[in-house]
Amino acid sequence: MKEELNTENKSTPKILAIGGGKGGAGKSVFSTIMAFWLARIGKRTVLMDVDLGGANLHTLLGIKSPDRTLNDFITRRFGELEDICIDTSEKNLRLISGASDVLSLANPHFSQKIKLMTHLSRLDADYVVLDLGAGTSFNVLDFFLIAHKKIIVLTPEPTSIQNAYIFVRNAVYRKLSRLSNKNPSLQALIKIAMDPKNVLKIRTIKELFQFIEESNEKNIIEILRKEIGDIHLGIVTNMVKNEKEENAGRIVQIVAEKYLTIPSTDLGCVSFDKHIRTMVSDMIPLTNLDKSSHAFGNIYEIANKLSRD
Ligand SMILES: Nc1ncnc2c1ncn2[C@@H]1O[C@H](COP(=O)(O)OP(=O)(O)OP(=O)(O)O)[C@@H](O)[C@H]1O
Ligand SMILES: [Mg+2]
Repeated sequence: MKEELNTENKSTPKILAIGGGKGGAGKSVFSTIMAFWLARIGKRTVLMDVDLGGANLHTLLGIKSPDRTLNDFITRRFGELEDICIDTSEKNLRLISGASDVLSLANPHFSQKIKLMTHLSRLDADYVVLDLGAGTSFNVLDFFLIAHKKIIVLTPEPTSIQNAYIFVRNAVYRKLSRLSNKNPSLQALIKIAMDPKNVLKIRTIKELFQFIEESNEKNIIEILRKEIGDIHLGIVTNMVKNEKEENAGRIVQIVAEKYLTIPSTDLGCVSFDKHIRTMVSDMIPLTNLDKSSHAFGNIYEIANKLSRD
């Protein structure tokens, strides 16, 4: 089973998901500036607020009250995601605002989620940037897993590093569980292994794979290894204040590879910029940020790198 959206047809957009578990690490700020730069590079970009329950991206773009939101798509007021895209002050940048009606979207039915995911590939854009909410609910993980580029944003604090690791670990288990949905005994084993204190003493994905291999599931293990190896993460360390803090992403990279068997790329760091904080609290659009800001420049480098992949 291929989990990512099929984009063999060249006109379908590349989906970039920005996740990372910990609230306040800067996912929304990063997604917004990233989408801005992709648009400036000339890529037709849609920034989508997938924080189902805590939508705030429109504010970061200086849009006070969006006249269309995801809710209008979910409730079928509009039939295509294209119909709920809002123009922004940037030429190539459009926004799909999150739902203002929190209750109906915070826990969408599975069928609504699948519909949303398949409609993403129909958007008339080069890139769709998904700003995911905090935490590791299935909603967040499923959107993360369908993306072609899976980016996690963390800060140098130990709790953020730990949360980033837990986020990736949960994403891997979510994927394994879905891959094994036709094999109840394997799915049960994966569920047991997910508990960090499980009786089988399986502590890592590496150990889980060894266990599966030894229990004569030789044909499935190759598929699982390949699917998990295909996840490939991009890691961004945000709010970096000094050289020492630059290593945070590298730490996640090492543990993700060692314990979760996931390859990753350290996409780089974004400097702490006090102006961002003021702009967010004063509701000034982030696109007005002084272009000489280090943070702005750092995200430009990352957008440029990704747009050339
Ligand atoms: N590079 C940065 N420098 C300084 N402050 C930053 C930077 N990035 C983000 N911030 C600040 O951190 C706060 C949280 O950022 P943001 O809302 O993007 O986090 P988030 O990960 O999207 O949070 P949530 O999980 O709640 O959606 C923002 O209000 C902003 O002020
Ligand atoms: Mg956010």
